[in-house]
Amino acid sequence: MADLSDPTSKYGSQVPILQVKKLTVARSRSIVIEDVNFSISEGEFVGLVGPNGSGKTTLLLTILGLLKPVPLMGGSIQFYGKGDASQKDIRKIGWVPQAAANLPKHIRITVRELVGLGALNAENMFGFDRKGRRQRVDRALEMTGLVDVADTSVSKLSGGQIQRSVIARALASEAEFLLLDEPLVGVDRASRNSLLKLLDDLCHDQQKTVLMVSHDLTAIRQSAHRIIYLEGDVRFDGPSEELPDLSSLASLRGIQHVHDHQHSDHRHDHSIEGGR
Ligand SMILES: Nc1ncnc2c1ncn2[C@@H]1O[C@H](COP(=O)(O)OP(=O)(O)O)[C@@H](O)[C@H]1O
Ligand SMILES: [Mg+2]
Repeated sequence: MADLSDPTSKYGSQVPILQVKKLTVARSRSIVIEDVNFSISEGEFVGLVGPNGSGKTTLLLTILGLLKPVPLMGGSIQFYGKGDASQKDIRKIGWVPQAAANLPKHIRITVRELVGLGALNAENMFGFDRKGRRQRVDRALEMTGLVDVADTSVSKLSGGQIQRSVIARALASEAEFLLLDEPLVGVDRASRNSLLKLLDDLCHDQQKTVLMVSHDLTAIRQSAHRIIYLEGDVRFDGPSEELPDLSSLASLRGIQHVHDHQHSDHRHDHSIEGGR
């Protein structure tokens, strides 16, 4: 049973998608993140920021189960209020790596094929449910605005389009919770804005949930509804417009939770149009 009285829960009666409690993670025997606490509800667009080496990727890898919390420190990660994520819950999580930099350019694969990899699962691997698979791919291509380049080779795409394709691949797997690590790297300014608009739309219109790491503070500020500032521990967690300027954040040595639960039960309206 989920602990609905959890003060980190944003919406009183709703089970958060993700709950991170007292999380401490070490790499090569030194502690990287310590006593990290937050939770994320459906439909939220959360930006995870912090200086280089502050543990952002470590946190994502731990959420994905690739790194384990330090034993005996009481840390836990729960999906949908459950301790051990079942196969089914894990499938709802879409990992979007730094695509532009990582996709091997020499591989000849079309956008549709790449997105199709996301729709492949144990049930339809051997040709069952081909139709359902095709529908999921079509829908993902539509949602990400890639219909026109569906049959284009990935090697011909811009950084922004490649990033969209990788997001589409996650959507084709019917992921509900997208984790993105520095998706704006290698993406030009115009595509960056439309990418952020896409993520915002996915949250608003499709009830997807997004946790995005970026060091592009301007981009995060103008698109995410909520910002978590991580520097070993959580230094700030609250509405984007309330993030203090970086100089005062740097001097924040204690943990300051600015997340105001009384006032955060409404969604913040953000527009990233206007190309700031
Ligand atoms: N594979 C690894 N082995 C040991 N230490 C690592 C490894 N990867 C990262 N670290 C260390 O963990 C800390 C946090 O790294 P990381 O989570 O990648 O930070 P960020 O993504 O915020 O830049 C850094 O001090 C980094 O040197
Ligand atoms: Mg990183």
